[in-house]
Amino acid sequence: MSGSKYAYVKSYETPDNLLPGTFIVVRLDGHAFHNLSQKHSFIRPNDERALQLMDNAARDVMDEFKDVVLAFGESDEYSFLFRKTTAVYKRRHAKILTTITSLFTSSYVFHWHRYFPETPLQYPPTFDGRIVLYPSAQEVRDYFAWRQVDAHINNLYNTTFWALVQQGGESTTQAHHTLKTKHEILFSRFNINYNSLPERFRKGSVLVKEDTPVEGEVPEKAQSLDTRDLNNSKTSSQVVLHHCDIIKDDFWDARPFLLSK
Ligand code: GTP
Ligand code: MG
Repeated sequence: MSGSKYAYVKSYETPDNLLPGTFIVVRLDGHAFHNLSQKHSFIRPNDERALQLMDNAARDVMDEFKDVVLAFGESDEYSFLFRKTTAVYKRRHAKILTTITSLFTSSYVFHWHRYFPETPLQYPPTFDGRIVLYPSAQEVRDYFAWRQVDAHINNLYNTTFWALVQQGGESTTQAHHTLKTKHEILFSRFNINYNSLPERFRKGSVLVKEDTPVEGEVPEKAQSLDTRDLNNSKTSSQVVLHHCDIIKDDFWDARPFLLSK
């Protein structure tokens, strides 16, 4: 093949290797999921099945890409953090982004029926993707804090909005106007204590690849539906699902390996 007179065309391909020694963050976002969620009657404001399907697709990505150590998901988006020193696909931008985007998308479609057994998928969903490079741990921390704050703000707004419409009898236009003091509306009018809503909705999903020593027996965590055992060696690498705060220091202090290399 290389000897063919046509092979010179390969030299037109543009190298796109990502800067070495930087953290790679890949963010995927569902395309026009406002539409997809309506067409498939997602529960408002939060559909647990849809969120779990997203978590499952993210786990498939983490199983495939060993250097993805952390992922954060909310609504129709997921962010993946590669360790700084990763040499995955020689750090080629397009190869990394397209493979993750298509794996996530095909997993979403492939497993749809398990999460929505009564609702056939009506058309092929798509996700867009982007890669952002961050030079140090501080920007990575701030990136994930930004996404979690976004999850919180959106959820607070959406929870109040749909309480006004579904239980308060307001039109969607009225509800938009009413939304000023969200906590108070929720509590005084609908007796919903925002802080007692499921953590999944308030904080999003945090998937962490954690190494757990395994001596003979399977650790308790590996038996949970929320974990996947990735190998059978003495150190078991598992993807563990949390719905926790990733803005404060505690999460990161307890897992220095996420940002160390
Ligand atoms: P683009 O991303 O720009 O293509 O538009 P989008 O329509 O996907 O909107 P965006 O990504 O900004 O927001 C995601 C949208 O998905 C939300 O506005 C909701 O309409 C919908 N969505 C995501 N999760 C849920 C859910 O759990 N329940 C419901 N009912 N809708 C959801
Ligand atoms: Mg979207």
